[in-house]
Amino acid sequence: MTSSQTESFYDAVGGHETFVRLVRTFYVGVAADPELRALYPDEDLGPAEVHLRMFLEQYWGGPTTYSKQRGHPRLGMRHAAFAVTPRARDLWLAHMRTALQASGMTDEQVGQFWAYVSRAAHFLVNSADEPDNPPDLISLEETPSAPSRRRPPSR
Ligand code: HEM
Repeated sequence: MTSSQTESFYDAVGGHETFVRLVRTFYVGVAADPELRALYPDEDLGPAEVHLRMFLEQYWGGPTTYSKQRGHPRLGMRHAAFAVTPRARDLWLAHMRTALQASGMTDEQVGQFWAYVSRAAHFLVNSADEPDNPPDLISLEETPSAPSRRRPPSR
């Protein structure tokens, strides 16, 4: 067996330094994006950056420090406090895409990483988008119910 058969994705992309760079770039994008930034409760994004980096390192076969420090990931539960709308997901993914493109990974590695994070991000959506034009409730109430029911046959 050659070493490449046992090499983890984590090692193949350059290990710790690559993940530090990737997640750093991602959070630089988040910090500069007022709409997404508003979801993050703390003034200091540092701890969020460390948690996401440790989580991703562990997921891709690196050190398991995340679980040792934070326990089971339970990502759905950990995001329940934040309104993750489709819009927030798309912003999050756009910053991740930018960071991945600057990460030095090959196109194939970027594709693999992207397949995972985009699936995870879609799974984490837990709220609906705010409508751009909230419906006028009064006129909605006045709308007659859909005329779809057939009349009963007359005998
Ligand atoms: C879909 C868009 C997403 C939004 C808007 C979002 C937002 C957030 C927020 C606001 C936090 C809390 C940060 C803090 O504690 O200060 C967080 C934590 C975290 N997120 Fe996300 N997230 C998203 C997607 C993802 C995805 C796709 C992953 C993993 C693949 C992920 C992994 C994590 C991890 C590991 C933490 C830290 C959990 C811990 O406390 O240990 N997130 N996220």
